[in-house]
Amino acid sequence: MSNQNTARAESPRGSLLLLSGANLQLLGSREPEIYGADTLEDHVSAARVEAQSHGWNLVAVQSNHEGTIVDAIAAARTVHSAIIINPGAFTHYSWAIHDALASCNFPIVEVHLSNPQRREAWRHVSVVSPVATAVIMGLGAAGYPMAVRAAVELLHRTQQDVASTPAAE
Ligand code: DQA
Repeated sequence: MSNQNTARAESPRGSLLLLSGANLQLLGSREPEIYGADTLEDHVSAARVEAQSHGWNLVAVQSNHEGTIVDAIAAARTVHSAIIINPGAFTHYSWAIHDALASCNFPIVEVHLSNPQRREAWRHVSVVSPVATAVIMGLGAAGYPMAVRAAVELLHRTQQDVASTPAAE
């Protein structure tokens, strides 16, 4: 391991929160023809490896309860630097999750294994997308590391914006 990697591992830049909503604990056995054979643990591991390769820790939370997701978002505001979220079916109707995400002043990446736009009409609306900074869907398992890369890229841009803002006179 290079010194640079060692330094990164010892002092991460901060942490990203990966949130998973309803029924995603069943991935691997739930409709594998749509969602693939990987378990949620597999996706979390791939996301964590990607995050760590950029010097970030990744914390993962899954819940089937809307209020638990809302609470996790509220707590993340002062603890994490970005949220990556696959809300599951909450995507299509949870205004509470929408409002919680809207209160965050950091990058939010929405990720879906499938492409909901190609599926039933009720999946075509996401109430999360209007408050997401970026959306990744339809790439299956590859979407998770991509979502992490998107979050890292967005964080990098935020830092550059801060760095290039002229000091107040
Ligand atoms: C999903 C798509 C949603 O419509 C669905 O309710 C899910 C999974 C996806 O990852 O493709 O639970 O978010």
